[in-house]
Amino acid sequence: MDLNNKRIIVTGCARGMGAATVRAYVNAGAQVVGMDQNDVDGTAVCTNASSGGSGHATYMSVDVADKTSVTTVFASAVKQLGGLDVLAHPAAIHRSGSASDVSVEDWDLMQAVNVRGTMLTNQAAYPYIAAAGGGSIINFGSISGQRAEPSAAAYSVSKGAVHAWTRTAAGTWGKDKVRVNAILPAIATPMYHEARARSNDQQNEANYWRNLQSIALGEEYGDPDRDLGPVMVFMASDASGFITGQLIPVDGGQHNVR
Ligand SMILES: NC(=O)c1ccc[n+]([C@@H]2O[C@H](COP(=O)([O-])OP(=O)(O)OC[C@H]3O[C@@H](n4cnc5c(N)ncnc54)[C@H](O)[C@@H]3O)[C@@H](O)[C@H]2O)c1
Repeated sequence: MDLNNKRIIVTGCARGMGAATVRAYVNAGAQVVGMDQNDVDGTAVCTNASSGGSGHATYMSVDVADKTSVTTVFASAVKQLGGLDVLAHPAAIHRSGSASDVSVEDWDLMQAVNVRGTMLTNQAAYPYIAAAGGGSIINFGSISGQRAEPSAAAYSVSKGAVHAWTRTAAGTWGKDKVRVNAILPAIATPMYHEARARSNDQQNEANYWRNLQSIALGEEYGDPDRDLGPVMVFMASDASGFITGQLIPVDGGQHNVR
């Protein structure tokens, strides 16, 4: 569980689970480059994390959907860190829309950010992590990619694709000791609160029965720092060295209790 001397990139670091992951990694002694498109909040998260922990975090701006941006910024981060051991990749977007009315624009946007972004960041990180003798890539899937999702059809498709990518990348890169897993969270973050705010009363009632009621540990989404941070440290550390290709729910039981 020791992250001293681990060199780590965290995408989506400006808020939510990416921000909590930066804090957990710096507290565990890691050298971190946090990345996002929200430069103001991303910089603040990295600066604040560095003021308290034994490790350190700096910020770099990236668009995970853009190949030139990802390859250029990852190269700069790896140069600064002196190599790469771990990529944590929470960056993603959520848009609502049912199977009947999802727009081409929202479909393409979520494919670009959530699916292509996962491929590009993983592909950029892989040779550096392999050159370091192995390490960990931590993607973010969702229960939405495992079940019918009436209010978010394209998001569901994008997360199903992340699951498939995670399996394939793990199968391809295991020979280099590069592990690839996906966290499937149920954590109260800005993304979660924004999705709820977009819902009407009827949808929020349905959300209770579909989501909250099946969280065995208390009918509440988890806290990013308390419930996700320690898992992210474990998945980045050598303690998880024989775990790859897995979809790992951190959801209070939602997947199997639903
Ligand atoms: N919150 C939940 O309960 C939940 C449930 C299932 C899955 N997930 C997944 O967990 C991950 C983290 O979610 P969260 O709730 O912390 O989300 P969030 O919306 O709170 O944070 C996402 C971050 O990603 C950044 N981002 C978005 N597009 C980007 C781009 N093109 N380039 C760089 N950065 C970009 C945003 O600026 C933001 O800071 C996501 O992959 C999400 O799909 C979340």
